[in-house]
Amino acid sequence: MKRIQIINGPNLNLLGKREPTVYGNKTFESYFQELKILFPDAQLDYFQSNTEGELINKIHEIGFSYDGIVLNAGAYTHTSIAIADAIRSITAPVLEVHISNVFQREEFRHHSYLSEVCKGCIVGFGLDSYRLAIDAMLHF
Ligand code: DQA
Repeated sequence: MKRIQIINGPNLNLLGKREPTVYGNKTFESYFQELKILFPDAQLDYFQSNTEGELINKIHEIGFSYDGIVLNAGAYTHTSIAIADAIRSITAPVLEVHISNVFQREEFRHHSYLSEVCKGCIVGFGLDSYRLAIDAMLHF
């Protein structure tokens, strides 16, 4: 059974409440239950933190044993050389995901420090971005 870790960064704990016109009305916890039903043959684990160092610790902890990481680093995407270096350091492939189409938004969201160290990026499909990323990962 493939083991896939979903990691969500800052403010994504507020999904369902936060800017619903951009991020939708569903909590990630309820969406995660749907994902587990959709992928019964994979082990899916979920971690969220608002703290950069905790995200890095989780990447280190599972990055040599899991089959892949689906990472939405939130705003750290656009700022964090440290998370990019953590991704460079591990062996598990990482897929970058974003709920919104960052390229249709403010200019500062157009640059990602993570894209060049990720295997691929899925952007702009709402929460379905996570399903698409897991599906792709199961086909690596
Ligand atoms: C986001 C896009 C980021 O620019 C933003 O800071 C987020 C969420 C997305 O999923 O669309 O927190 O990563």
